[in-house]
Amino acid sequence: MAQSSLINVIFRASEKAARALVRDFGEVENLQITRKGVADFVSNADMDAERTIMTDLKKARPDWGFIMEEGGVVKGTDADGPCWIVDPLDGTTNYLHGIPHFAISIAAIDKPLAKGGKVIAGGIFDPMRNEFFFAEPGKGAFVNDRRIRVSGRRNMVDCLFATGIPYKGRGSDDDHATFRAELGQVMAETSGVRRLGSAALDLAWVAAGRYDGFWERGLSVWDIAAGVLIVREAGGFVSDFASRDKALISGDVVAGNSQTHMGLLKMLKDGRSKK
Ligand code: IPD
Ligand code: CA
Repeated sequence: MAQSSLINVIFRASEKAARALVRDFGEVENLQITRKGVADFVSNADMDAERTIMTDLKKARPDWGFIMEEGGVVKGTDADGPCWIVDPLDGTTNYLHGIPHFAISIAAIDKPLAKGGKVIAGGIFDPMRNEFFFAEPGKGAFVNDRRIRVSGRRNMVDCLFATGIPYKGRGSDDDHATFRAELGQVMAETSGVRRLGSAALDLAWVAAGRYDGFWERGLSVWDIAAGVLIVREAGGFVSDFASRDKALISGDVVAGNSQTHMGLLKMLKDGRSKK
């Protein structure tokens, strides 16, 4: 498929940043032995990647604003105009530990989400596998030059789900108890649950039919803006835990195909009721 200019801009920016992240990842693997300075090194790699991406995107669309994980909000010429949403390194904990599972996520929105803005393009680049997942509204979802679709599985017992597990400093004790109750239910009814540590790739893999669904609470807009569009364009469904179209605003995400999305919502609710 011929890529649109917006997707090309996203691809070029993420590919350039990915090259530096891959080079630095080799160094992180060496630093694991000493452990000294590894966190600072990773934080620099993360910020460098964001700067590279910002410079490239700014060149292509000088008037646009930015919402970035590291650099925060940078207003565009028109405060109500289009904007990039950038996560330069999703899966930072994996990267820090030398685990080769991380991604760059870039989305474009037409105006602020609080003013009814929509995601008009999204790309997620996995530098270790050289997979670029992307979508635009109404044009379908792709990985590299191949069209992708959500899985066709319908029975929960055959399904594999992904999630994000809260940890110390993320969520209250009560949130942790809620997660355990929900996980208990999903474990009991399905083929299994994975926690690979990159919400952007979790969503991309739901879109590619590798996972049958995904749930996580408390995500940030840069983790999910591209992924939500890619799942929907792959024929999937995304909502918050109450089945509302509010995942991008709340950061609470439940995703799947038409059956698994409903099935997952029900399992999560049943789990909570046993808490
Ligand atoms: C994190 C990853 C992880 C998810 C966390 C996110 P980061 O993003 O997406 O899978 O569970 O909630 O914060 O910190 O690696 O960019
Ligand atoms: Ca992230």
